[in-house]
Amino acid sequence: MTDPGLEMELGGSREGGGSGDLFSKFDPLIEQRRALLAKGVTDPFNLVMERVESPAVAICNGRRTILLGTYNYMGMTFDPDVVAAGKKALDEFGSGTTGSRVLNGTYVGHREVEQALRDFYAMDHAMVFSTGYQANLGIISTIAGKDDYIILDIDSHASIYDGCALGNAQVIPFRHNDVDALEKRLRRVPEGAGKLVILEGVYSMLGDVAPLREMVAVSKAAGAMVLVDEAHSMGFIGPNGRGVAEDQGVIDDVDFIIGTFSKSVGTVGGFCVSNHPKFEIMRLVCRPYVFTASLPPSVVATAATSIRKLTGSSAKRAHLWENSKRLHAGLKQLGFTLGTDQPQSAIIAVIMPDLETGAAMWEALLKEGLYVNLARPPATPSGMTLLRCSLCAEHSEEQVGEILGMFAAAGRSTGCI
Ligand SMILES: Cc1ncc(COP(=O)(O)O)c(C=O)c1O
Repeated sequence: MTDPGLEMELGGSREGGGSGDLFSKFDPLIEQRRALLAKGVTDPFNLVMERVESPAVAICNGRRTILLGTYNYMGMTFDPDVVAAGKKALDEFGSGTTGSRVLNGTYVGHREVEQALRDFYAMDHAMVFSTGYQANLGIISTIAGKDDYIILDIDSHASIYDGCALGNAQVIPFRHNDVDALEKRLRRVPEGAGKLVILEGVYSMLGDVAPLREMVAVSKAAGAMVLVDEAHSMGFIGPNGRGVAEDQGVIDDVDFIIGTFSKSVGTVGGFCVSNHPKFEIMRLVCRPYVFTASLPPSVVATAATSIRKLTGSSAKRAHLWENSKRLHAGLKQLGFTLGTDQPQSAIIAVIMPDLETGAAMWEALLKEGLYVNLARPPATPSGMTLLRCSLCAEHSEEQVGEILGMFAAAGRSTGCI
């Protein structure tokens, strides 16, 4: 056992023994991980990218590896204009702001990226956070407090649940993507109470899309405000890449759209856009916005450049759809069980029978030269283990062919197909 993480964990559990050690609650997870790694499996949660050659290819364990497990949907991380904007801002404004947006941390670049977002979404207000996680944490906890009700899809992202907990709102989950269940839960909310419905455009584990048209209609009819997290659809879905709400024609009825720079935009950061006339007050009352340092100038410069380029990226969007369809059809043909019957987004989830088989398949793919995400509970719904494939607009048609060949070989060697 040479894995340092594992040794630390074993050390931790040896010291514990239940005598007041706050780490003892992690013992079942430590044991599960120990048992898995004891079989000689490479740790799926400890991979190092030794060099990154492009949005689609990196060097891992000394070998060329096709990346099929990033959120780099639109492949913007190596865009020459994006990289040049970051370098210029680094030279002109330095490496960081060392301050909050409400003190010394608002540079022209922060204003510019918020303007780029207002233009991209054609909305009145845009507020940038240091991550998408903080955007959900901040917006949800600030607008929905103790006496308000949040009705959310049970498969919502952790940052949504954490935002609900921080604001101490009453949380009512409903069955994933079930319009009737949403309607029933809305009827349960006491008369006159504040109501916020939280939905996602694309759900990141299975890559399925929400029926936003129906859900937004039902929510509005019940007098609720609606927040949609478009983290996995921005840039790709919708005629202008504004996401699923745009694609399904309901963007004007959505009160708040949450997004991130860590996926299609290709850097780091989060945001909320809205047409609410009082939205700007959020800059003073939203604690995860006020009590943290703002994004570095190079990051906001890369984000602004990337967002402006995403507006006109229809050809890239079309290519990404073609790749998603090709991969989905190919994997299905090979006999894998997929998260959706049809491709609905750039995420294609391959369902594994259990964690052990999933880890073996993940490792076999890596040896073939392919990186995918291994996802398992509690991040996944219904206790599933998944190999999550996320395509990028920079994958070529040939690379999709190569990927299918690797799935065929790894699937056969592990007995998955
Ligand atoms: C639906 C959803 N919302 C928010 C986030 C958080 O984004 P960020 O990486 O910017 O913190 C994620 C990240 O995976 C996500 O999947």
